Amino acid sequence: MSGVIELRDLAGEVAREAGELARRRRAEGVHLAATKSSLADIVTEADREVEGLIRDRLRAARPGDGFLGEESAPDAGATGITWVVDPIDGTVNYAYGIPSYAVSIAAVRGSTAPAEWEALAGAVYAPATDELFHAAKGEGAHLAGMRLSVTSETPAGALLATGFGYDPATHDGDLATVRRAMTIARDLRRAGSAALDLAFVAAGRLDGYFERGLKPWDLAAGALLVSEAGGRVTILDTESTRPMLIAGGIRVHDRLRAIVGEET
Ligand code: IPD
Ligand code: CA
Repeated sequence: MSGVIELRDLAGEVAREAGELARRRRAEGVHLAATKSSLADIVTEADREVEGLIRDRLRAARPGDGFLGEESAPDAGATGITWVVDPIDGTVNYAYGIPSYAVSIAAVRGSTAPAEWEALAGAVYAPATDELFHAAKGEGAHLAGMRLSVTSETPAGALLATGFGYDPATHDGDLATVRRAMTIARDLRRAGSAALDLAFVAAGRLDGYFERGLKPWDLAAGALLVSEAGGRVTILDTESTRPMLIAGGIRVHDRLRAIVGEET
C-alpha cells in the first residue's frame, strides 16, 4: 500500500466518524455559535465540535503533520504534510436542515496555498446520503468502490454549479459571471456546499463548477477528486482576495475559463 492510499483511507475513516457526529448533532438541534465575516457567515457549535474531533483523530494517527481548518488555529507541523479540513461545508444548509452538507478532509504537501500545494489525498463525506467520495494522487477517485469519471459530452449544454460568497458587496460581480456562463449551460445549480459541488463534478453529476472566493478548506479534497476523475481544475487571480476556481470535464472547463477569463 503506497503512502497516498494510507492518507486517503485515514481521511475517509475520519470523515465518516466526523460526519456521523455532525448528523447526530443535527438531529438533536442546531445551535448557532457566532457569526463571522458577515451576518450570513455563521458557525454552529457542531462545526467547532466536529473540527475538534477531526483534529484529535489526525493528531493521534499522524502526530507531526500540520493542520489548517476552518474553525481553529493553524499548525505548521514538521512533516511537510498538512491536513486541510472543513468540518461542515454547507453550514447554512446544515443550520436550516437542508441535507446538502459534507465533511471535507485533504492531505497536501508543501505550501498551504491551493495554487501551490501538491494534493496527496482527500475525502468528502456526505452524512445525509452516506456517500464517501475519496481520491489519492495517481490512484483515481472513487465512490462506493466505483471509479469516478467526469463527463465529456454535453450535447444539451453543460449542467453547471456555482456559489456566492457571504459579502453582499460581491454579489453583483458574481451574478454578471453567472449571466455569461449561462450561454453554455443547460441549467445551473447553487446547492450550497463547494466540497459537494466538486465531488459531483468528479462523479459526473455536474459538468462544471465555478466560484470566486473559496477558502483552501472548501476546495482541497474536492479539487483532487476532480483531477483524479480525469477533469481539470484551475485557480485564476491567485493574488486577489477572491480567486476564481473553475472545475469540470476538459471541454467544459476550457469553455468556462474562456468565459470567465474575458472579465479578469
Ligand atoms: C461555503 C459553501 C458554499 C460556498 C461558500 C463557502 P461553509 O462554505 O461551500 O457552497 O458558496 O463560498 O464558504 O461556510 O458552508 O463552510
Ligand atoms: Ca466551507
